[in-house]
Amino acid sequence: MTFHIPPHRPKTPGAQAFLTDAPKKLLIANEWHDAAGGGTFATHDPASGALLAQIAEGTTADAGSAVAAARAALSDPAWRDMKPSQRGRLLWTIADLIEAHADELAELETLDQGKSWATSRMAEIPAAAEQFRYYAGFANKILGQTIPTSIGYHPPGKKIFAYTAREPVGVVAAITPWNSPLLMAAMKLAPALCAGCTVVLKPAEETSLTALRLGELLIEAGLPAGVVNIVTGFGAVVGAHLTAHRDVDKVAFTGSTEVGRMIVAAAQGNLKKLTLELGGKSPAIVMPDADLDLALPGVARGIFANSGQVCVAGSRAYVHSSLHDAFVEGLAREASRLRLGHGLDSDTDLGPLVSAGQAARVAAYVDEGKADGADIAAGGTRLGADSAFFSPTVVAGVRPDMRLMREEIFGPVIAVTTFDEPEEALAHANDTDYGLAASVWTQDLSAAHRLAAGIRAGTVWINCHSYFSPELPKGGHGESGWGYENGAQGLENYLETKTVCAVI
Ligand code: NAI
Ligand code: MG
Repeated sequence: MTFHIPPHRPKTPGAQAFLTDAPKKLLIANEWHDAAGGGTFATHDPASGALLAQIAEGTTADAGSAVAAARAALSDPAWRDMKPSQRGRLLWTIADLIEAHADELAELETLDQGKSWATSRMAEIPAAAEQFRYYAGFANKILGQTIPTSIGYHPPGKKIFAYTAREPVGVVAAITPWNSPLLMAAMKLAPALCAGCTVVLKPAEETSLTALRLGELLIEAGLPAGVVNIVTGFGAVVGAHLTAHRDVDKVAFTGSTEVGRMIVAAAQGNLKKLTLELGGKSPAIVMPDADLDLALPGVARGIFANSGQVCVAGSRAYVHSSLHDAFVEGLAREASRLRLGHGLDSDTDLGPLVSAGQAARVAAYVDEGKADGADIAAGGTRLGADSAFFSPTVVAGVRPDMRLMREEIFGPVIAVTTFDEPEEALAHANDTDYGLAASVWTQDLSAAHRLAAGIRAGTVWINCHSYFSPELPKGGHGESGWGYENGAQGLENYLETKTVCAVI
């Protein structure tokens, strides 16, 4: 089967104007610039293959200029001395602007990334706005402490007065992936701005458009020059330069574990602070008493949403042997119900993957599993040789040593196997170097919380999967990363503590 999808044009005048006004430029100190040297690269609609726009291909010189602008903005009174409540208002205004332009941003996101309109418009663009709203309220609640001390060697008759102050960590390089482009940018920008940091944002080269449109909205919101700079371009050039740059104080990264390791190495020069949100291979454990009416659509959504291009996607299912056949049959039914098509078409449930290359990568995993004797219960096919579409796939009989069960595929593919005892399910769930998330499906409260306690993962969902909110800390144990995003903990990563100890 081959999919032929004609080019789609956005309907909103905003998205039309944005795409017409190309090549897109870099944002440095609130001004739009061509790349040094004038290079550009193309971004495409992965569904139709149509060219969307040319984008400035940032160089190391551009990355350097952006860092210099961010460094200067850090001590610019317009930003440094902005009252916390005003910073909060600014974040709130950014949220308002994202909401006011939600249709347009959703069109750009769907065109550039492929995801369905529902995913863009109902889920991710509103969630990006919510990130700014959540941290808007925090901006004037960043508190130090006064601390009684037990120091005994101060001069007689004197006292010790000690307190802590919280300060922005400084210049942040935010490097984002292509799976949920605007949301990932918002998850880094909102806490960074709340803390008073300045930022150089490098969006993924596959999906730069919504970050650039956000840049325009940030200027409209009144963000002082240099507080957020956006350098589009390639990871090996712009990303590598930022992560090694001595004037960058922190890197906030979401992406592959492989690049995460490179960033750790690059950051050692000036011992940058790092938050790394890396890969995952999240298990879903389906206990013998699970309510399949809840578990089947829930597990299906956990793997197939955004075509499986979700860091926490539930890509391994461990199903009690008493339910196995019914579960595999039911999940295959869920998978085959999903309609593939252009993300902007109203009857589309799943768009393409981000690129034909990603579809080829997913196909290689599935083909290898087939050759190793796993059973394809649903899907398993790429829709055409050069296509970015891959059908939602359920693979049963997957052994623990197969790559299908071990590696992050980042596509709509779930590997299923069985267990008999809860301890066995737990051992399977923890048989991974990753530790991002997991879900447990059961009606037994005690079993649910025992499993939650035993699973090595940053998030455990009970009778749901991929439930997110800015209030809930999100991060990886093991090789899934360092540090947390969201919640009060997400803000901590953008703050330093200064202890002041005085003899008075
Ligand atoms: P990637 O890790 O290469 O890309 C993520 C970001 O890192 C992009 O902005 C990229 O330009 C940047 N980058 C690349 N090389 C860099 C370097 N040397 N220094 C600094 N920044 C650099 O991910 P890629 O290759 O696009 O996807 C490959 C696989 O990674 C996916 O199939 C998936 O398994 C995983 N991935 C996981 C994500 C997650 O949310 N956990 C997101 C994206 C990819
Ligand atoms: Mg693209």
